[in-house]
Amino acid sequence: MNLGLTILKGRRSIRKYKEQKIEENIINDTLESARYAPTARNAQAWKIGVIRNKETLLKISELASHGKFIKDADACFAVFAEKEHQYFVEDGSALTMQIILSLWSFGVGSCWVAGHGKEYAEEVQKILKVPEKYTLISLIPAGYPAEVTIPKKKDLEDIVFTEEYKE
Ligand SMILES: Cc1cc2nc3c(=O)[nH]c(=O)nc-3n(C[C@H](O)[C@H](O)[C@H](O)COP(=O)(O)O)c2cc1C
Repeated sequence: MNLGLTILKGRRSIRKYKEQKIEENIINDTLESARYAPTARNAQAWKIGVIRNKETLLKISELASHGKFIKDADACFAVFAEKEHQYFVEDGSALTMQIILSLWSFGVGSCWVAGHGKEYAEEVQKILKVPEKYTLISLIPAGYPAEVTIPKKKDLEDIVFTEEYKE
């Protein structure tokens, strides 16, 4: 298997982290790679927050109903997109995956924690002092994996059709 596929197929959502810090160059390379994510009309109408302050991580984790583990992460990326842009959800989602996969290429685990449309989205935005023209798309807590869970994936024949859909 080539290296790209190994990274893509090996990724898992990681919700338990070691105390080990993520090296600064990994954070920087991840952000640098995030710049290259695709956007509709090349709008790049987004912002990425990098949160490493423990108090802030705790506050966000208390808000995120399915993201309590954010408090244990060494860093949490927060993806925001300009809500007036027609494809802000798609663009923010592409950016989210670019960050998750970049981290994983360094052996750093992370997990997409829902942001868009969640009842806590505005509160997180306020805590991070992000202007109103943006909206939260996702939170991405990250750290070296302390535990890896392997979810079952559907077989190809259950999700693919060729030319025309058939039952
Ligand atoms: C849009 C989206 C929202 C998600 N929200 C959460 C979340 O709030 N909390 C969480 O623990 N995992 C969340 N996940 C991660 C999924 O639970 C995970 O991808 C799925 O169980 C498959 O596991 P895998 O990522 O290891 O393949 C989310 C994933 C996506 C794509």
